[in-house]
Amino acid sequence: MIGQANGRPVSITGLGCAVPDRVVTNADLAHLVDTSDEWIVTRTGIHERRLAKPGELAMSELALPAAREALDQAGVAGAEVDTLIVATVTPDMAFPSTAAILADQLGSTDAAAYDLSAGCTGFMYAIAQAYGMISGGLSRKVLVVGGDILSSILDWTDRSTLVLFGDGAGAVVMEQVPNGGFLGFELGADGGGGDSLWLPGSGSRKFEDPDRYVKMNGREVFKFATRVMVTSAQAILEECGKTMDEIDVYVPHQANIRIIDHAARKLGVPKEKIVVNVDRYGNTSSGSIPLALADAATDGRLRPGSLVLMTGMGAGLTWGSALMEWTADVAGMKAAA
Ligand SMILES: CC(C)(COP(=O)(O)OP(=O)(O)OC[C@H]1O[C@@H](n2cnc3c(N)ncnc32)[C@H](O)[C@@H]1OP(=O)(O)O)[C@@H](O)C(=O)NCCC(=O)NCCS
Repeated sequence: MIGQANGRPVSITGLGCAVPDRVVTNADLAHLVDTSDEWIVTRTGIHERRLAKPGELAMSELALPAAREALDQAGVAGAEVDTLIVATVTPDMAFPSTAAILADQLGSTDAAAYDLSAGCTGFMYAIAQAYGMISGGLSRKVLVVGGDILSSILDWTDRSTLVLFGDGAGAVVMEQVPNGGFLGFELGADGGGGDSLWLPGSGSRKFEDPDRYVKMNGREVFKFATRVMVTSAQAILEECGKTMDEIDVYVPHQANIRIIDHAARKLGVPKEKIVVNVDRYGNTSSGSIPLALADAATDGRLRPGSLVLMTGMGAGLTWGSALMEWTADVAGMKAAA
């Protein structure tokens, strides 16, 4: 799916994020499995990540502070939210949805609330849906949360996956604005490659003796990621008649610094425009892009008028890009701590 955002102007008016307190370094992981700080840093760029203590946090509990911060910043009350989408692959449970649980906690009694599953691309899918709901006149104030407690579905004996991921969530409020905001979206999925990154035994399909942990073919996902991070960004730029030179802030999914560097090199993005936090948080799935937006707000790069390109990719296999002219004044915002 690709298209220009030609409806009523819609933008992000509030942004919030949350990560667990516990910092886990590469050296900590080297006590669990046969790995090293040197291997992890060289292959991924990750130095540390935030992880909930086992059983400590459910997704809604991480989503709640992020959502409250985003609502505060937008000056929107929970009761005013009329659509609430939580993009996650680690909901509190299959049902009720985490979105319904969160809507109850926020007092969003009039909101349509549902979870969305698109792997690490979930946040990109969710903001595109929110745009459509608002620009089409169905919703006025949408709360989108992206995040995961991936530590709850990792095999803590599998060094090939556990070093890559972290827990985190981000939230945005989306509303109609006088002008600016979203310019277009490109989203895609290739289910044929789905078994390169999957969670067997987590649904209705029967598996013999599934262990219900993330399984990944790292090399295949790497090839996929380096391809779509470039093609998706190029497609949305062309669709919206923009060039990379016009982009002020490039927010790639934070999976691996080598994937980010490859995409930035192919797209011709200079270093100062790229937002990177994979070193501090690892791959937080759907939390990755909103956490990175919060970083760009904190360091002053995200200003009204900034042209922002976001590209995500992940399980499905899925990918997605959004192009927007930032409108909110987020100066002084604190990054997740
Ligand atoms: C996972 C990834 C970092 C591996 O890097 P790589 O350069 O492809 O490494 P390889 O898979 O070729 O493995 C190289 C060696 O390191 C070993 N290795 C794997 N994980 C290791 C770890 N944590 N510590 C030490 N060694 C490790 C492998 O067993 C392999 O050993 P071998 O050569 O003896 O078989 C990389 O493939 C990647 O980032 N893929 C994308 C993953 C991703 O982003 N997933 C989420 C998408 S949203």
